[in-house]
Amino acid sequence: MNEEHLEPLKRHPEGRALRAEVDLGRIGRNLGRIRAAAGGREVWAVVKANAYGHGAVHVGRALAAAGTHGLAVSNLEEGLELRQGGIECPILVLGGLRPEALPAASAEGLSIAVVGPEHLRDYARALSSHPVRLHLKLDTGMGRFGLLPSELSECLEDLRQLSPWTDGVMGHFATADDPDQGFALRQRRVFDACLSQLSDAGIHPPQRHHGNSDACLRNLLDRDTHIRPGLALFGLTTVPEGRVLGLEPALALVAEVARVKTVPAGTTVGYGRTFVAPQPMQIATLACGYADGYRRDLGNRAVVGFKGRTFPVVGRVSMDYLTVALPGEVPVTPGDPMTLFSADPSEPHSVERLAQALNTIPYELTCALHRRITRRYFS
Ligand SMILES: Cc1ncc(COP(=O)(O)O)c(C=O)c1O
Repeated sequence: MNEEHLEPLKRHPEGRALRAEVDLGRIGRNLGRIRAAAGGREVWAVVKANAYGHGAVHVGRALAAAGTHGLAVSNLEEGLELRQGGIECPILVLGGLRPEALPAASAEGLSIAVVGPEHLRDYARALSSHPVRLHLKLDTGMGRFGLLPSELSECLEDLRQLSPWTDGVMGHFATADDPDQGFALRQRRVFDACLSQLSDAGIHPPQRHHGNSDACLRNLLDRDTHIRPGLALFGLTTVPEGRVLGLEPALALVAEVARVKTVPAGTTVGYGRTFVAPQPMQIATLACGYADGYRRDLGNRAVVGFKGRTFPVVGRVSMDYLTVALPGEVPVTPGDPMTLFSADPSEPHSVERLAQALNTIPYELTCALHRRITRRYFS
């Protein structure tokens, strides 16, 4: 079956009692804070992976309204989604593009990162009929995308051909979150040397951007004209400077209680019977599981927020459900909302604290939030 003929997922307001509540006002304010911390530099706001799970189109619109220069996404589809959502500001595809896809990018006015030496001539050939703005990505030490400094000299002639279309030169830090800035500063030096080499060859793109969120927070921006923050826009951070800046987490994950039952001591809960009720208690079942992005290893480890208190997630998290234990005297009924991810960073069930408990990063938790979760937006 051709996927394009599939009906989009039908939603009903009463359909699923699991929602991500996204405060777009906070995202707009976070943009202002990061910009101020970055000395007012223009922003390419990174909204790839469905805006880190927050919902790309709504977040993209809010960021455009709050004054971002442009939005950055991972691939062509993500860029097209934003355009289909009516977003008109510049959109940069970070992950590169095969030359065959240039007409589609051109038709939608998407800018493209040039991520290696392999397609430079094909690009030059295609651009006269399908013009696209370009950003040249340099591999200053990330070891992923980008032309290596050692490849630059042999590409200079091709890059000169692309020069009329080239708006920017970019790199990406591998260790901006590391208190030891040694490697980040080395990447800056490599970037500078490449910029000089380009300049000597007569290539002077007006934009320079190497900094992600942590580079903005840690003042690693040097002579960059633009910044490329992602995580900090959503009020999340892995470095102390982020909390000092007053970033506000924008997302709460809320599930309504689907069922409550009172169980006697000795009752086991869930697959593998990993939880045994030590006394009579209430077990609330919520319709959120690992298929929604709530990690399986949060079972018997995380808490959820309910009426100003927290209660433990007990037993294994299954595909679509998780279970919470509450003492008998706590009034709880189906439909009551429980907070699985709190937007208060000091709470034990904030995204940052849960990520720490799982020995991972906040990015992984929000990006995993499935599109089947209803997103509600407010500001
Ligand atoms: C090329 C590039 N630039 C910028 C960012 C934004 O990084 P952060 O979310 O850490 O600010 C990313 C995110 O992974 C990226 O891949």
